[in-house]
Amino acid sequence: MENKVKLKGQATLNVDGKEASLPVYGGTVGPDVIDIASLYKQTGMFTLDPGFTSTGSCESQITYIDGDEGVLLHRGYPIEQLAANSDFLEVCYLLLHGELPTAGQAEEFNSTITRHTMLHAQFDRFFEGYRRDAHPMAMVVGTVGALSAFYHDSTDINDPAQRLVASHRMIAKMPTIAARAYKYSVGQPFVSPRNELDYAANFLRMCFAVPAEDYEVNPVLAKAMDRIFILHADHEQNASTSTVRLAGSSGANPFACIAAGVACLWGPSHGGANEAALNMLSEIGTPERVAEYVARAKDKNDPFRLMGFGHRVYKNYDPRAKVMHQTCHEVLKEVGADDPLLQVAMELERVALEDEYFIEKKLYPNVDFYSGITLKAMGFPTTMFTVLFALARTVGWIAQWQEMIGDPTQRIGRPRQVYTGAAKRDYVALNNRG
Ligand code: SDX
Repeated sequence: MENKVKLKGQATLNVDGKEASLPVYGGTVGPDVIDIASLYKQTGMFTLDPGFTSTGSCESQITYIDGDEGVLLHRGYPIEQLAANSDFLEVCYLLLHGELPTAGQAEEFNSTITRHTMLHAQFDRFFEGYRRDAHPMAMVVGTVGALSAFYHDSTDINDPAQRLVASHRMIAKMPTIAARAYKYSVGQPFVSPRNELDYAANFLRMCFAVPAEDYEVNPVLAKAMDRIFILHADHEQNASTSTVRLAGSSGANPFACIAAGVACLWGPSHGGANEAALNMLSEIGTPERVAEYVARAKDKNDPFRLMGFGHRVYKNYDPRAKVMHQTCHEVLKEVGADDPLLQVAMELERVALEDEYFIEKKLYPNVDFYSGITLKAMGFPTTMFTVLFALARTVGWIAQWQEMIGDPTQRIGRPRQVYTGAAKRDYVALNNRG
């Protein structure tokens, strides 16, 4: 990666009689940044920003988000245009290589991914170690990390060719692993990938085909699945991507780094929100009970939050949520489902968006708000929702990991702290402790 930040000037910080002069850099678009790398050397002080609300961790050329305007760009292309005109593997190529592929590049890339979808024959035995009622995310976290035990020939992070093979393997094998986690949890035999099917159709067939009969993939659902993968592909320096970058900064192999990202995504504040949001809608149950839960979400003494609402960056409507809402209606129409939870979700959105609390705190539906209803209508249990998020986000994690390794300014990530524990004191023998 070629660093492209531009020096815009200097910031001066006066503290304790010391003056620090810190360079200010600007990018293509978005806020300028103050480079504080020399702050400790100049002042003997650290900064403190526990949730990284005002802290940039890196320079990146992959994804840009304008939270105030509800804008999401992948290599400059708006998510709405990619969702409407592209397909997931084309978006994978774009995120990895920086440009939309030519027809020839797309054909070669798609063929490469297709030929990496199978897993080593022994790999399937990993699942046997889990109880059948294990959460599918527990199986995905474990098995993704285990990939490094099978694919040693693509773990040397200093070899660009091995990094590319590992990238292709991760993108290609995640649907196979995700489908196996689902099949294992429902007690059905694993279904192998088919090379004549496209990425999303292959995944749906691996999930829902059974040996007892032929399975035809519904093209409307395959298109919806592909679009849902596009919506979840990458999202700047979110918690799980930052986890992958931090793991990668130590030189860990790519499979271990992606396993770390899967683990972080699992949390209900992050990728686990789609499962939590559907569980919340089920708990609310009817549109009539929405007001009661909105009141709970506003009550400081009640830990309840509206899952699928709010975002660290978006202080406007998440552009992905709009596309997901449209996809939700398409899927429900195609499967002929009239999910009462959709009425609950739409009433919840209406009430919340008119409520002063949510307006003042700029809380809007995020990508997770409508995804649960959509995925449930497609036949997935709620425990698979975050697995689908991880499947789609794998390309974003890999692209960001590749960018980090190629960044000449990259160093091992090692934050500092403000220490408020005990000052230095001498050891007290047991018989003197009272
Ligand atoms: C994803 O980072 C990414 O890009 C993530 C993601 C991606 O693609 O990678 O977009 C995917 O993780 C989407 C977010 C999914 N999570 C949820 O839907 C869970 C519910 N949302 C919240 O927990 C919360 O909004 C977060 C975690 C998403 C953001 O938390 P922040 O930025 O730390 O905000 P905060 O917790 O400081 O909240 C600010 C205020 C607080 O009130 P005050 O303390 O200022 O009085 O807003 C309130 C919060 O209490 N608030 C909510 C709320 N979210 C925030 N109140 C009610 N319901 C909510 N959902």
